[in-house]
Amino acid sequence: MAANDTKDPILNRADEVSDLISSIQELIHPFIAAADNDAAAKSSGHGLAIPGGGPRTALVEYHAPNKLSQILNLDLPSDRKGKEGVLALTKQILGCSVNTWDQGFLDKLYGSTNAVGVLSELLLSILNTNVHVYQVSPVLTLIEKHVTRSLADLVGFTGPRRGGISQPGGSASNSTSIIIARNTKFPETKTEGYGSRKFVLFTSKHGHYSVEKAAQMFGFGTNAVKSVDVDDEGRMLPEHLSQLIKESRERGETPFYVIATAGTTVLGSFDPLDEIAEVCAKEELWLHVDGSWGGPIIFSEKLRKDRMKGLEKVDSFAITPHKMMGVPLTCSFLVGKDTRLFRQANGVDAEYLFHGTNTNEEVYDLADSTPQCGRKGDALKLFLGWTYYGKEGYGRAIERSFEVAEYLFDLLSSSSNFVLVSQKPLPCLQVCFYYAKDGNLGQDVEDNGKVTEEIARKLVPRGFMVDYAPGEKGKFFRVVVGRETLRGTMEGLVKAIESIGEDVGAK
Ligand SMILES: Cc1ncc(COP(=O)(O)O)c(C=O)c1O
Repeated sequence: MAANDTKDPILNRADEVSDLISSIQELIHPFIAAADNDAAAKSSGHGLAIPGGGPRTALVEYHAPNKLSQILNLDLPSDRKGKEGVLALTKQILGCSVNTWDQGFLDKLYGSTNAVGVLSELLLSILNTNVHVYQVSPVLTLIEKHVTRSLADLVGFTGPRRGGISQPGGSASNSTSIIIARNTKFPETKTEGYGSRKFVLFTSKHGHYSVEKAAQMFGFGTNAVKSVDVDDEGRMLPEHLSQLIKESRERGETPFYVIATAGTTVLGSFDPLDEIAEVCAKEELWLHVDGSWGGPIIFSEKLRKDRMKGLEKVDSFAITPHKMMGVPLTCSFLVGKDTRLFRQANGVDAEYLFHGTNTNEEVYDLADSTPQCGRKGDALKLFLGWTYYGKEGYGRAIERSFEVAEYLFDLLSSSSNFVLVSQKPLPCLQVCFYYAKDGNLGQDVEDNGKVTEEIARKLVPRGFMVDYAPGEKGKFFRVVVGRETLRGTMEGLVKAIESIGEDVGAK
């Protein structure tokens, strides 16, 4: 360190921030614009080729980890590289990353964010505060309370203490609901542990793995999660749930928690909440709904009407706007009927942080209601997005995505080269299917899976990225339609799969 480095710096941070932001804008704009320019080409079944070291479209120039490590310069310097160093790296990062703004990104249950999303992340980093106590984040605290109360209203909760907390993702929202359920139903476990009790939880065979993860984290063990059978549309069978609860009690276990899913990860199915709520009320079990994926349909009266019947009867609900709603990762909420239970279940007397602002009735130091200490102000991102688009705007955008997903379903149905796994009306935004030349799906499960994998791999250099999942007849495609997916993109995807499929099938 040079001797004069220890002198007090001259503060010029406002100009420094403006300078970096305006320099980086020159790199960000072409990145997003490339995806929009590519959109027009997608209907042909090929994204626009972009010069690069490999087959490249706006979506990505894909490399395996070893090759990518050689291309990227990830060495951390000992000397300051300053603005030039950061800009050079930014160019590399943008150039080698998957561009989720691209129409061809149909792979996972999230996509790009949007203009207001970018702004909200920027604002959060400028504030760079921690929503653990009110003193340091007064505005963000009130915003989080207000956003979660508004979500609770949409759910249909009516009690005076309805509301929620933000959580760092859908898995976290689900696992926190388990803590709240257990400590509410069996308050002594909070201090004394489980004793001789063997706690048991239930989810459907199509439930998300976060339940098993939580079971291993919290010491229940993954075998404590009982899998409830589903019908042929992937929805939990309430009568099988009742049977499993009965069997569990007969074994002397302590069933306490059911997690139903609103939008399963693979098929997008919605469990029958009304009937499951009836079972839970009779058996006195906590009912949580994992709406991490499909939850945002509460913004549309039309979509929620049949799929979410009975939602207002449940005890807690997870919704993750960083998936379907395009709010920047991460943004997830756990919403409940009575937020006092959140603090009773999670709170500990840490007087060095919580100085008596919270009362039994009202919580302003929000970390005391959550498993975290440090907490990002993720609610601001939904708050600004909701302001920008409005409830109606969000609802309409989601309805439009459902129409585009149905459009893809119809394209696939009208070709003789696909066997559909999804059924119409589609429960959610996934369309699941096999490629099968002339409708002939092979008998060999492994071979079918290999065809799917190979086509999926070959789609990437053409500017389409889709995922697949295991099924009875082998791995099948799962295409996830996004908020801004265009019908032309769906046409191009079908063309691309059929053209690649010709070669794969001919081998
Ligand atoms: C139904 C469901 N629940 C929970 C999760 C987990 O959410 P996160 O990835 O935010 O932890 C997912 C993820 O896709 C999901 O599909």
